Amino acid sequence: MAAPRPLIAGNWKMNGLAADGVALARAVAERAVKDPLRCDLLVCPPSTILSRVAEALKGTKVAVGGQDCHAKASGAHTGDVSAPMVKDAGATFVIVGHSERRADHGETDATVRAKAEAAHAAGLVPIVCIGETAAQRDGGETLAVLARQIKGSVPPGLSGAEIVVAYEPVWAIGTGRTPTVAEIQQAHAHIHSELIGHSGPGAADVRVLYGGSLNPGNAKAILAVPGVDGGLIGGASLKADDFLAVASSCP
Ligand code: PGA
Repeated sequence: MAAPRPLIAGNWKMNGLAADGVALARAVAERAVKDPLRCDLLVCPPSTILSRVAEALKGTKVAVGGQDCHAKASGAHTGDVSAPMVKDAGATFVIVGHSERRADHGETDATVRAKAEAAHAAGLVPIVCIGETAAQRDGGETLAVLARQIKGSVPPGLSGAEIVVAYEPVWAIGTGRTPTVAEIQQAHAHIHSELIGHSGPGAADVRVLYGGSLNPGNAKAILAVPGVDGGLIGGASLKADDFLAVASSCP
């Protein structure tokens, strides 16, 4: 089967007031027009500026995603945003289960799965994040952790373009350190095969992104790894030039 078209997604995390966010989004869209890219582009701004960024990107090739959603569609959950709200703000994707949410907010695999289900029900594509800690890697548990997280956090039965999985080793996020290409290839092959075991043959073309210190310097080598279907980029997504440099490194 032909590999799916790569997805290059920017996770802006808790960065960006309205003016910076709209300017960054416009800069990304402008460069994406100049550069004939071999990938789909997505930016995930903070929820406070989601609708403004979505408005600025209307009619461009750049999609917009949320960074989290609640598992319930509405109700007494102060400070949270629901999947229908994220969708209503103009998003088509939403990140769920990022390791920073798992760590900062105690999100479990079951919580993440409920959020992914809510996202799917609202018509969004969930980007489910998984990845081992440094201690788990050192203990030789990486593949077992990834299998367990897929079983626990990925709603079964979603296929093709309905869901995206992001492999983000926790120890690689924001550290400048990455696994070797051999380690990335092994993890991605394992994730693809576990997804098929979990969701059936329709999951064969689910995109599995790599995330964790992806930057213009290492993007070409990492994005060329078989089984890597794009990237989830934090730090390097905050500058349009760097983000587009990563995107134009897609094979
Ligand atoms: P980083 O973040 O690119 O800054 O390492 C990636 C992520 O957390 O999604």
